[in-house]
Amino acid sequence: MQEKKYEACTIPDQDADFVDNFSARTCASGTATGPAAVHPGGHMPAHGRLHRSVGDGVMQKSGQHAWLIGASSGMGLEFGRLLVRAGWTVTISAREPTRLRDAATEIGATPLCMDVTDRDAVHASAKQVFSKMVPELVMVNAGDYRPMPLEDFDVDLFERLNRVNYLGAVYVLGSVLPMMREHGDGQVLLNASAAGYRGLPHGAPYSAPKAATIHLAEALQPEAARWGIRLRVINPGFVDSRLTAKNSFRMPGLLTAETAARRIMDGLDDKGFEISFPRRLIWPLKLLRCLPYRFFFWFIGRKVLSS
Ligand SMILES: NC(=O)c1ccc[n+]([C@@H]2O[C@H](COP(=O)([O-])OP(=O)(O)OC[C@H]3O[C@@H](n4cnc5c(N)ncnc54)[C@H](OP(=O)(O)O)[C@@H]3O)[C@@H](O)[C@H]2O)c1
Repeated sequence: MQEKKYEACTIPDQDADFVDNFSARTCASGTATGPAAVHPGGHMPAHGRLHRSVGDGVMQKSGQHAWLIGASSGMGLEFGRLLVRAGWTVTISAREPTRLRDAATEIGATPLCMDVTDRDAVHASAKQVFSKMVPELVMVNAGDYRPMPLEDFDVDLFERLNRVNYLGAVYVLGSVLPMMREHGDGQVLLNASAAGYRGLPHGAPYSAPKAATIHLAEALQPEAARWGIRLRVINPGFVDSRLTAKNSFRMPGLLTAETAARRIMDGLDDKGFEISFPRRLIWPLKLLRCLPYRFFFWFIGRKVLSS
């Protein structure tokens, strides 16, 4: 199948809008008015956390910024909605400009059109986001999927899914980690998948880059922690979205995107490295991961392939 091209991954006046959306939250009078209010005079505190004077000289934390990449639909959009409701300033990115802009308007976020597989665009966007308001949270959520039985082996599909599901995360990390290091804090969430725990039939083009993303986070986490950055993975089971609409089989433990977003939100302040759900699917999959190959392939042949 031909890869759809997103030549015009910009929203008309995107740069101006991007600036406006942030400056609109700047209080002209110098009195902060909401979670996204910028310091009087438009000056941003170096570490990006926003504080306001409450009159008695006490400085109160008043807002945080999240950049969600791949958030014009599904889990990312619902997670953005929850963050906005909780008082965060949210920037969302994706490729398709109209859907992105509509999604941003719907939840009260700022759109920034970007293709995560375009390395230069990722770097330019990261600079733009960090120069406006340093994000405490960056989520790499862009993803693509298509099932592939062996008889339909498609090298193009492998390349495409590797670019979005793995290299996209590498490009984002390569840009944001050094910028976050300067500020000495922040959290980066990579949305991988429970499909990355072990190879599963019909899923190789998707699960291999997802496994690589989990390894990527595991490998970088200890050093990132020394820079003050929490690098973590999200491993969801099945979630109802545009991606899983391509599945014709029964998906055990299928969650709505809203429920999945709520689980991510609940896990935001956890100390753990991984946010995974739902438990009823995750634990059996984790058990499968521990099985010796002989038993694993027996199980897959009997219970997965023959159904
Ligand atoms: N649904 C599941 O069962 C499930 C399970 C485990 C993990 N996940 C992972 O969760 C993440 C979110 O998936 P979802 O199920 O919520 O699907 P979704 O609704 O299709 O969301 C995917 C988002 O990523 C964007 N995107 C796709 N390719 C992109 C690219 N090259 N550059 C920038 N943005 C891009 C899409 O917008 P555009 O197409 O306009 O760019 C969309 O906003 C994915 O990483 C997926 O692999 C999903």
